[in-house]
Amino acid sequence: MSTVSAVINVDVKGPTISRHLYGHFAEHLGRCIYGGFYVGEDSDLPNAGGIRLDVVEALRALNIPNLRWPGGCFADEYHWMDGIGPKERRPVMVNTHWGNVEENNHFGTHEFMALCELLGAEPYISGNVGSGTVKEMSDWVEYLTRDGDSPMVRLRKANGRERPWKVPFWGLGNEAWGCGGNMTAQQYAAEARRFGTYCRDHGGNKLYRVAAGANSGDYAWTETLMKQLGELGCAYRPAAFMQAVSFHYYTIPGTWQDKGDATAFGTDDHYRTMVQAARVDELITGHANVMDCYDPGRNVGLVLDEWGTWWNVEPGTNPGFLYQQNTLRDALVASLHFDIFHRHADRLVMANIAQTVNVLQAMILTDPESKALVLTPTYHVFEMNKGHQDAASLRVDLLSGLPSREVGSDTLTTVSLSASRKDDTVLVSLSNLDADEAADVELDLRGGRAGEVGSRILTAGSLRTHNTPETPAAVAPRTHEQVTRTEAGLRVHLPAHSFVTVEARLA
Ligand code: AHR
Repeated sequence: MSTVSAVINVDVKGPTISRHLYGHFAEHLGRCIYGGFYVGEDSDLPNAGGIRLDVVEALRALNIPNLRWPGGCFADEYHWMDGIGPKERRPVMVNTHWGNVEENNHFGTHEFMALCELLGAEPYISGNVGSGTVKEMSDWVEYLTRDGDSPMVRLRKANGRERPWKVPFWGLGNEAWGCGGNMTAQQYAAEARRFGTYCRDHGGNKLYRVAAGANSGDYAWTETLMKQLGELGCAYRPAAFMQAVSFHYYTIPGTWQDKGDATAFGTDDHYRTMVQAARVDELITGHANVMDCYDPGRNVGLVLDEWGTWWNVEPGTNPGFLYQQNTLRDALVASLHFDIFHRHADRLVMANIAQTVNVLQAMILTDPESKALVLTPTYHVFEMNKGHQDAASLRVDLLSGLPSREVGSDTLTTVSLSASRKDDTVLVSLSNLDADEAADVELDLRGGRAGEVGSRILTAGSLRTHNTPETPAAVAPRTHEQVTRTEAGLRVHLPAHSFVTVEARLA
């Protein structure tokens, strides 16, 4: 068993870990909205205006900071005016991208804003650049955020909403290099400038406009945006039409044709998955380095508004619905991402896991027949880590004993840590990615002494363990007893394949 030594200077506060790194994403895709968040007003399930209340209650426990909607690829074929007014008069459209299914538009702008209010989350709306017009997007912003009197304000009021909403985050399209219009970086940069210009700040509502960014490691895309959307060189000032640039990165250890099975996998598959997940560190660094050349003052934010595992769909389900199970392995992918996000808190301002309910690496799975709701292992990582939201990051210096595994031509470090401080409480997250070997971590807490200590652990008999309606708590957090106070700080035992959080009040 390895013993890892690490130092945390608890009195040297680093950049704040934005709560928005714990953001979410809900697309009109498969059963995320319909049959997930939204069951309709006539459902037997307790609901508020059709929004499923047990889903809301479970998610409220995560302190979801923001929710991205309506896509994804769907965003660039969504026409918001189809989703307002009396439901029986809303036109049906075809969701060509996801399963070619009919979309009745019953979940539209008002329903999304009501969902955000129920969740206590801030809305992040992705506008349609690919197949929409500048006027359509500009009108949507006016409809949502303007007060007083104007054509869009009148329309909103006629639809039952007197006061404007607050909409802090606005996406200028999605994946413009692919489903969002198959554009070149130059084409998109020009479009983003135009669309961004007419997304106005109305009254006190200040939009944080996010330009649709690169696919994984396409640094040239980021560079084109940074070059064209601002003034060149060191004198770069963030332009009014863009406050952030996004990128997307999914953990896919297989190929696009055969991504790998969500539950039937071996130890080698597990390590390959962890290597792919850890790659997000290199990608954030790469995009941030490009941004630093044009924006050394770090005024423009980097947003990872789609991340997570992407497996082959569950057998027997619609391939266009992206429904997948979620095991302890997915939980470790999430905990590893968060350690990396915390380390990049100076540039990474927002991240959104894909997607909240019933799609890809979800928090919640609902059974289409029994309607039972299951919390996934990934849900528990979000819940156990929520104390990091808006806390000051603390640097973790790993001194010795870091265990690793050779995975093909890569080396995977199998213990990962991050820490933060809020008032007098230090929260340390620790992941042991090793399938078989336990590890001990000796934490030297400098600049403070641990008083009262509490710890929780998420683990299971196997990395393949997952929750179902029959076994909803097969992977669930429990109290972790194997944490001891030492002269220097704390000793934490990490069983194989486990995620542990330690909360210490400074004495
Ligand atoms: O999250 C599923 C899809 O993945 C999104 O719609 C798209 O943006 C990405 O390719």
